[in-house]
Amino acid sequence: MNRARFFSLSFALLCFLMTGRDTTAFYPFPPLPPQEQYGNILINRTSEKNKVKSVTFSHWSHRLHYTCRVCHLELEFNMQLNTTEITEEANKAGKFCGACHNDKAVFGHTRDNCEKCHNGDKAYGKEKFAKLADLPKTKYGNKVDWVKALQDGLIKPKNFIYDEARQIAFDRLLELQAENYGIPPAVFPHSLHTQWLDCSNCHPDIFNIKKKTTKHFSMSLCLKGQFCGLCHLRTAFPLNDCKRCHPAMSDSY
Ligand code: HEC
Ligand code: HEC
Ligand code: HEC
Ligand code: HEC
Ligand code: HEC
Ligand code: HEC
Repeated sequence: MNRARFFSLSFALLCFLMTGRDTTAFYPFPPLPPQEQYGNILINRTSEKNKVKSVTFSHWSHRLHYTCRVCHLELEFNMQLNTTEITEEANKAGKFCGACHNDKAVFGHTRDNCEKCHNGDKAYGKEKFAKLADLPKTKYGNKVDWVKALQDGLIKPKNFIYDEARQIAFDRLLELQAENYGIPPAVFPHSLHTQWLDCSNCHPDIFNIKKKTTKHFSMSLCLKGQFCGLCHLRTAFPLNDCKRCHPAMSDSY
């Protein structure tokens, strides 16, 4: 039995033993930051090497205005920290951050603005989190129900800045049943994802385009930041929120 499988089996057993209690407390979840820092990152691929402070970036403050697609498709930011080759020159030429931070739409790359980005402070801008207070609530992550906020028209993030997104409609709801665990299936609603993301954000790099064919797809790897966990630990509501993915799970989980 390999480690992942052993882990999963032990976990299923643990769930069984724990019925009636809060299993999440016993699941080896990465600790969650305070809600106003969930989804915040410090970009430091080249900064400190070049004697400037690492760059603060907050997902919640940007997703109020733009979908993931804008940055992770149009602007070609990778969904992995410190892998995109962002340079000061490229930013100044209107690429990456500079596509918006150009002194027109938002503050640009001028002397007095360097420290708005290069400040090494993951909590930067936290006082602005208060403006999210009126959005619908959830229990984990930013504690904002982004799905409902979008559906109710409380936020209207732009889905493109260059070419209007002409995405094929695909609203298939998948049920992903993990065999042999006696756990209610997880659901994967395509429609709620394609409001934020492009097909190519997931296919074919993260998931095969055929149900139940993605290899090694398990909760233990999700918990390591793969598959669903790529987003559902760092930007979208985190894995702690069992029932949002396993709707038939009892409240005791
Ligand atoms: C809108 C945010 C933003 C602003 C404003 C900004 N930068 Fe940057 N800068 C970045 C990002 C993101 C990177 C990539 C960081 C990394 O990968 O470590 C970067 C990288 C750098 C680098 C290292 C890479 C290279 O190209 O040499 C230097 C030096 C730098 N910036 C200087 C500056 C200076 C000086 C200013 C002010 C005139 C400034 N930056 C303003 C976001 C910004
Ligand atoms: C305004 C631009 C922007 C938007 C909008 C945006 N992102 Fe990002 N995202 C970034 C940047 C920049 C990085 C860091 C890339 C790097 O360092 O190479 C990043 C990194 C990530 C990472 C990796 C984080 C880590 O800790 O390793 C994930 C996952 C991610 N984004 C998912 C999303 C999702 C999901 C959405 C939509 C809900 C989204 N992003 C919206 C710019 C954006
Ligand atoms: C698609 C457009 C877009 C891109 C790309 C973008 N930003 Fe922004 N950024 C904005 C907008 C709009 C605001 C103002 C948000 C607000 O105040 O609600 C903002 C605000 C900020 C702030 C907050 C400043 C403050 O004083 O509160 C920081 C820091 C920031 N961006 C850093 C970055 C960095 C670093 C990158 C690149 C890695 C980046 N942004 C890429 C549009 C963008
Ligand atoms: C957030 C990630 C994500 C996005 C975005 C996404 N998909 Fe999927 N898709 C999945 C997952 C997960 C599966 C199931 C894979 C598995 O079980 O191995 C899947 C499966 C599929 C399947 C097979 C369905 C079946 O019943 O066998 C098709 C077809 C598909 N996707 C098309 C699309 C198209 C078209 C888009 C864009 C409109 C899209 N997907 C966007 C995650 C995504
Ligand atoms: C590329 C990023 C990404 C990946 C990968 C991803 N999701 Fe999501 N998912 C999102 C975003 C963004 C939302 C919007 C809600 C939020 O941000 O909290 C969302 C929403 C959902 C919702 C809607 C919850 C509701 O309130 O109705 C479900 C269910 C869900 N995801 C399940 C999954 C499952 C299961 C997987 C893996 C098969 C997965 N997601 C993979 C980004 C992702
Ligand atoms: C973002 C969506 C998501 C969330 C949140 C989530 N799960 Fe899952 N879970 C899945 C998916 C998808 C699978 C099925 C993988 C497959 O196809 O085998 C799964 C499978 C499982 C399994 C089967 C064992 C395994 O390793 O695959 C268990 C046990 C499980 N989940 C428990 C939980 C518990 C307990 C929670 C809350 C603490 C939770 N899950 C939260 C998506 C999620």
